[in-house]
Amino acid sequence: MALACTLFELLSEAFGLDPHYLKEMDCAEGLLLLAHYYPQCPEPELTIGTSPHTDVSFITILLQDHIGGLQVLHENQWVDVPPIHGALVVNIGDLLQLITNDIFKSPEHRVLANRVGPRISIASFFNASLFSAKLYGPIKELLSEDNPPKYKETTAVDYVTFYNAKGMDGTSALPHFRV
Ligand code: OGA
Ligand code: NI
Repeated sequence: MALACTLFELLSEAFGLDPHYLKEMDCAEGLLLLAHYYPQCPEPELTIGTSPHTDVSFITILLQDHIGGLQVLHENQWVDVPPIHGALVVNIGDLLQLITNDIFKSPEHRVLANRVGPRISIASFFNASLFSAKLYGPIKELLSEDNPPKYKETTAVDYVTFYNAKGMDGTSALPHFRV
């Protein structure tokens, strides 16, 4: 949580905003922690560890063990995100893309099944509180005549509910919230 606070400060500054801006938007009020256990797989080419998706969060901080298998979609190619001992992976989520009006992108990623294993990873999703009625839309300070809002305002719970109902079908939930 302390690391997430520092990251939200740095991200706020990157947008030319007050360092406390994102934290004051309650971007770290909700924390969902998912611990994954991927068993070893005798025929990895017949299946997938986690199917392609983007994260429903502002940011996700991921701890992965040494096995590997995480990939990110970059210019239409799946690229490995190799484990580095002692390092965490920080991923931009859909809600940060929404509030930055597409300045930061929520990348598609997946996890391959592996002959060796098990693989263990722990993902911490930083989100707004699902009990809050606060509306999230593109940050006003980032908008201009040339950069009008691309998204409607939504509560965190409405976004998560839509994302979960849609399921991990390989498409993003973000277009549903486009203006
Ligand atoms: C996730 C995810 C990756 C991993 O939980 O959203 O992408 O390495 N996990 O398990
Ligand atoms: Ni993910």
